[in-house]
Parts: sequence; C-alpha cells; structure tokens
Amino acid sequence: MRARLDELVTAALQRGAAVPAFTCYDFTTATAVVEAAEETGLPVILNVAPKTAATRAGQRLIAALRGLADGASVPVCVQLDHASDLAVIVESVRSGADCVLADGSSLGFEENIALVREVRAALDADGGPAHSDAMDADGGPAVVLEAELGGLAGDEDKAFALDSDVQAAGLTDPAQVRDFAERSGAQLLAVAIGNVHGKYKGAPQIRWDVLERISAVANVPLVLHGASGIPADELLKARTLGVGKVNFNTELRTAILAALEAETAAHRADGENLQGLLGRWSATAREFAAATLRTLGE
Ligand code: 13P
Repeated sequence: MRARLDELVTAALQRGAAVPAFTCYDFTTATAVVEAAEETGLPVILNVAPKTAATRAGQRLIAALRGLADGASVPVCVQLDHASDLAVIVESVRSGADCVLADGSSLGFEENIALVREVRAALDADGGPAHSDAMDADGGPAVVLEAELGGLAGDEDKAFALDSDVQAAGLTDPAQVRDFAERSGAQLLAVAIGNVHGKYKGAPQIRWDVLERISAVANVPLVLHGASGIPADELLKARTLGVGKVNFNTELRTAILAALEAETAAHRADGENLQGLLGRWSATAREFAAATLRTLGE
C-alpha cells in the first residue's frame, strides 16, 4: 500500500523503530524485499540507484516497483536514491517514485540548499504524478524529499573497503542542520557521521558525539546511509538518536552473490535451471530483508 516516506519514518520513530531501505537493481530482489515486509508485517523502502534510473529499463523498473508497492499488504515507499539530475528525477517521479534523495552533498552548503529547492520546484512545475494525489491529504507536498548534509565517501554501487580516515571526512556539521532542513524544505536528512557506502576497513568509527549533537537540534527524521557493516547494536543505538531510516545495499549484494556462486553449478547441471537459481536469489534476498526488518522494526 502507498505511504508517505516522512510519515512512515516518523511513525516508526514514535514507536521506537526504524525503517530499512534496500537498493533494488531488479524485480526479483524487490519482490523478495516486499515479501519480507509482508511476512514481518513491517513497512519497507525500495531504493532505486541513480545509475539504474538513468536508463529506460530503470524507469520501467520504477514503474514495476510502484505496482509492487501499491499491491503490498504493508506500507512500501519507492525512492529514487542519491539523485541530482533534474530530468531523471522528474522522469522517475512520473514513473512512480514517491520520494527522492535530492543529493547536493558534493556541493557547498548554499548550493546544496538550492539544489533541494530546485528539485521541489521542478516537481511542482511538473504537476506531480497522478498516483501521489491521494498521499497529499494533509496539504503537504506529495513527493517527499530527503537531502544529505555532509559528504559520504564510497561508491554507491560497488563496495570497496574504506579506511577510517576516509570515514572521518565530510562529517555533517551539527550547527548547520536546522538551518539546512528549514531552508531546503527537506523532510528527511541523511547524515555523515563516519558512515560510508561500501565496506569498512576495520570496525566502523561512528562519531556518536556528532550524531548526538545533530539529534539535539534536528527537526526532521535522520537517515543513516552505508549501514552495511555497521553492527546491529550500533544501528539500534542510532535509532534512539533520531535515525528512522537505514539504507542497505552492499550486504544485500554480498548475500545474493554468495548464493549465486554456491548454487549456479547445481542449477546448471539441473537442466540449465534459471528458475531454480532465481528462486535461490529470491529466498536469499527475502531472508536478509526479513532479518533486517525485524532487527530495526520490532
Ligand atoms: P551500503 O552499500 O554501504 O549498504 O550503503 C547503502 C546506501 O547507503 C544506499 O543509499
């Protein structure tokens, strides 16, 4: 069923929970994630990577994910992740994305604010997708915008291990948080607190002092990217400090690739059984998503 990302995450925080977001490059994974959400009775977010969304196939995937979300028995959001290209953003919302990470984190503070506002203006000018009308009942903007303040290191689609000095670069400045959220109009805020996309060399060095200072001033729910490799007890601690959305990509890919490596030969021998292999892919994604949903959501 449809849900507004900001409302979903706020409601989760109010009951002491957080909502995971999983990057889905394909329909098999997305279906498995939604099945995991239905199995656990918990809401979930399907993330689409910007490189995926920049292709025609990616736009069709967004439309398919929209259908999947609408047909689910639990709230599901379809989010365009880390986007800065206005044309891709508008097209993705037309295709069915109901939330966007308007990512100006590589820009200066004022330029980052300007980008988020520009995205909002572009979506307003486009009229918004028909499907989002029903989500606008309280007069708020139909398409929910997340923004990122500070800069997260690492590749979003390829996992490389990053040193602690890279993790420590580009931290969110707590003094800028409130001003940024108010002036940009962002409804959720992704923070850089030592988290990175990909893998951590050694244990992640999360800057709890920075998150505590952000949490003390933030007036929107916080988002933790780069959750792969961060121990569960630390994710739960982040939850108590206003982190209501937690993004996973690498760990899901690792699990799927390991399953494919282990099972491909047997399915090849079993009459080139691609259906069987996809079943293993699906079961692996579903198990990972269900375990993560339970950790964060219960
Ligand atoms: P990981 O690949 O490190 O899990 O990060 C995912 C993410 O933050 C997607 O936005």
